[in-house]
Amino acid sequence: DRADVVVLGTFVADLAFKAERMPVVGETLLGRGFAMGPGGKGSNQVIAAARAGAKSAMITRIGRDAFGEMARKTWEQDGVTTSHVLVDDISPTGAAFIFVSATNGDNAIIVESGAAANLSVSDIRAAQPLIASAKVFVTQFEQPIDAAVEGLRLAREHGVTTVLNPAPALPVGDAIYGYCDFVTPNETEAATLTGIDTSTDEGALRAATSLVERGARNVVVTLGAKGALLHGAVGTHFVPAFDISNVVDTTGAGDAFNGGFAVALSEGRPPLEAVRFGAAVAGLSVQKPGTAPSMPRRSEVDAFLRERS
Ligand code: RIB
Ligand code: NA
Repeated sequence: DRADVVVLGTFVADLAFKAERMPVVGETLLGRGFAMGPGGKGSNQVIAAARAGAKSAMITRIGRDAFGEMARKTWEQDGVTTSHVLVDDISPTGAAFIFVSATNGDNAIIVESGAAANLSVSDIRAAQPLIASAKVFVTQFEQPIDAAVEGLRLAREHGVTTVLNPAPALPVGDAIYGYCDFVTPNETEAATLTGIDTSTDEGALRAATSLVERGARNVVVTLGAKGALLHGAVGTHFVPAFDISNVVDTTGAGDAFNGGFAVALSEGRPPLEAVRFGAAVAGLSVQKPGTAPSMPRRSEVDAFLRERS
């Protein structure tokens, strides 16, 4: 088995509740809508990559249950390779509680990784041939960090371009950054990882610099509606965001960016162009509800980039 983009991460079922605001502790709030669908950062990124045109593969663990079936169906529909999806007999497939603001599409999430929390270093080693076949390897922090480190390390060893989306932001040692060609936090994650206030362009650049000093070759800080900052071996570039007027749901926009970014890199495009491509995928995804289901197809991305150039 081989793939151009290989993603190590989670699948979880997204349970999205729309409401005017978040309830406070002890309060019951009437909702404004509910939807259930496929999610999990890793799986969202692999779906974004597959739809954006790369032969893509997922490495994870799911449970033997209904959400696990949802995962299979999701990957099958978009032709994702699942030869290294392990089925756990004990733990359930993960799930996420997602609050979506009825007023502006903002979100807040509690994610439980379920079976994916059992991903081990030896699971990753077993996937070495798949990882070695890739052009780009991508991972996040919803599964154990040592699994992420092993994936990045193996990918590096085989000359595969490595992307770490450090989400959710967790305290990690600096060693992991040394295996990363690109570290892609959003501005909040960049602040958490570095302790630097990223609310200004200058602050975002300082945070990116700090991650480069810890060993990352390049850093892409995604800044939401402000765009993205690319900093490192390839220089320093602020990439403006596409102006999107009809934002429905920003959940999974970071995953859309990472999936698109990985595809463009796998096609040998220069990093700056890959950031633009990722931003287009993200810009399209926020116009539809849900995470994985809102990922655009390649034809839509190409049309969007043509319109906006
Ligand atoms: O990045 C968005 C994802 O984070 C959601 O799909 C949810 O599952 C959480 O993992
Ligand atoms: Na969306």
